[in-house]
Amino acid sequence: MSCKKAYITTPIYYVNDIAHIGHAYTTIIADTLARYSRMSGLDTFFLTGTDEHGQKIEHSALDRGKTPQEYADEIAATFKTLWDDFDISYDKFIRTTDADHKLGVQKAFLKMKENGDIYKDVYKGHYCISCETFFPKTQLVDDEFCPECGRSTTVVEEESYFFRLSEYQDRLLEWYESNPDCILPKSKRNEVIRFVEGGLDDLSITRTSFDWGVKLPAELNDPKHVMYVWLDALMNYLTALGYGTDESDIDYWPARVHLIGKDILRFHAIYWPAFLMSLDMPLPKHIAAHGWWTRDGAKMSKSKGNVVNPKEVADAYGLDNFRYFMLREVPFGGDGDFSQKALIDRINSDLGNDLGNLLNRLIGMSGKYFEGRVDSSKVSEYYQTELDEVNDSIAKLEPFVFEMQLHRYLEELWRPLSVANKAIDKYQPWAMMKEGREEEAMALNGLIATILAKVSIMLYPIMPQISPKISSALGFEISHDSWSRYITGDDVVDEFTIEKIPPLFPRIEETLLAHVEPEEKKPKDTKKSKKDEKAKESDEGIALIGIDQFFQTSLKIGTVVEAEEVAKSKKLLLLQVDIGEETPRQVVAGIKEWYSAESLVGTQVCVVANLKPAKLMGMKSEGMLLAAKDSSGLSLIRPETLKANGTDIG
Ligand code: ME8
Ligand code: MG
Repeated sequence: MSCKKAYITTPIYYVNDIAHIGHAYTTIIADTLARYSRMSGLDTFFLTGTDEHGQKIEHSALDRGKTPQEYADEIAATFKTLWDDFDISYDKFIRTTDADHKLGVQKAFLKMKENGDIYKDVYKGHYCISCETFFPKTQLVDDEFCPECGRSTTVVEEESYFFRLSEYQDRLLEWYESNPDCILPKSKRNEVIRFVEGGLDDLSITRTSFDWGVKLPAELNDPKHVMYVWLDALMNYLTALGYGTDESDIDYWPARVHLIGKDILRFHAIYWPAFLMSLDMPLPKHIAAHGWWTRDGAKMSKSKGNVVNPKEVADAYGLDNFRYFMLREVPFGGDGDFSQKALIDRINSDLGNDLGNLLNRLIGMSGKYFEGRVDSSKVSEYYQTELDEVNDSIAKLEPFVFEMQLHRYLEELWRPLSVANKAIDKYQPWAMMKEGREEEAMALNGLIATILAKVSIMLYPIMPQISPKISSALGFEISHDSWSRYITGDDVVDEFTIEKIPPLFPRIEETLLAHVEPEEKKPKDTKKSKKDEKAKESDEGIALIGIDQFFQTSLKIGTVVEAEEVAKSKKLLLLQVDIGEETPRQVVAGIKEWYSAESLVGTQVCVVANLKPAKLMGMKSEGMLLAAKDSSGLSLIRPETLKANGTDIG
């Protein structure tokens, strides 16, 4: 059976950091597209995963005294767990350290070489490790700093293989020209065109100065090279379908959409299509670049402590509400500032007032007048105008999906709700009942139920947990079949008895806000504002915990009895700390920049005593020291006066 296919991808995320709402945003949009696509009957393959090679990851791992593979395993698992907690409907989670991925990349390298697109030369230039990008001198800030992230670049001069990107300028321009929506939003396409018109340099695609990467194919017999991490990473979109190994899923190619953030557009809109042309593979239909989430106007970063943890937001406000907010709040491509106040407003107003209340009204009306029964058989007799208006709105929705206009989609989807709410106000079922116009009142019930049915189906891709609750109260299941009846078809709902379900969007009082996000509350009395100030200091997107959770951490006083430097490490000291047990604990601590080994012996420290042992540079570490670090450096936390070793802190 042949069925239209849709291949939808997220970027594969670097494992140098844990997921924040930016990553969640991309993944949630992709999940929405995948769910829509499945519901509308397309054979869908949704890919996400992690990008695990490169110098940046190698550094992050070594900083923590881990091998790159150990470190990558750990962080990749946190991404996977988060997406599973979020019920992200991915079909495959790819890791660039997967064996078949590496094989596929090597195959591709050979093929590009056979096609005459790869040659060997010497690379001389500046490399930003954080962005994993080469920059020509003309683009550097003050001849040294990365134009993207501002970090210092490294001068690199090494033997390298090059990809003849310059040869693809014309073919790329032709592609952008003849596919007006290959890059979304369209304004971004113009940026790319201007960039490519400016001329393209050949691209260095191997490195010799480190080795955490995919090796060159054995045939080339050049073991000192590893592949440039972006060649490796972009190839994931093909290797996930088995490119170069087991190609049973390769028919999903070309991608319907690569969903990305605007920071990585150049790689996807220039390098990737050029690589694909070199491989004689068709090009993706859309590359869709969304904007940036900021917090209080600033880019989120760990060092600023303003990172929003998506799990905490979802736990506090509901996963579906969070999804709705992100997709509704920001036009695709634009930047958005995360604020809990805006999120609460959306929940109370759009979801609570417009949608939740409508369902409550229907439950109330059918309960009061018809013992919960809803019969739609007379809807078109009395309310055809309203039905037409609703069906018009519903018919407009689909194009918004793959044009990435999800905020417009949601805006349009709210029109039927407003038709329904207005109809109740206008026709006043209570008056109709008084006047004995029962049939009309029942038809109004049917109209409202039909509208809610349609809306719940179209809302499903965005709110996959709440929508089925609505449909089930209305006596049906969301599926491709119901989609065909109510969305492509213009059916009204079958007769059913409504289920009285509790309100789906209980009102969130903004007074709660002071507790979670004090900076947005402007209290008048000073007493309160002091409290808020205090809360603010501790608010770095950190969830509040109960005392029992706090006591799960065992903190103890200890005395450093031995200390030595760890050879070959700039950061680590090896300590033996007596915490009142039979033998001292061995602790590997990253404090060498601030403390000499000798100065520590005989001093007291605070130790986290029930941490899982870890290996740092091959040495076992059985605890962690408490310390505080700010711009002036790091200080260990110590008891004010001597305390017995093993004394509990808390
Ligand atoms: O770039 N707002 O991985 P990455 C919105 N491994 N989206 C954000 C965001 C923010 N503040 N921060 C991150 C890489 N993102 C490469 C990709 S693909 C072949 C290789 C999202 O971990 C956004 O989608 O740095 C961005 O493109 C992606 O995370 C980058 O994730
Ligand atoms: Mg990044």
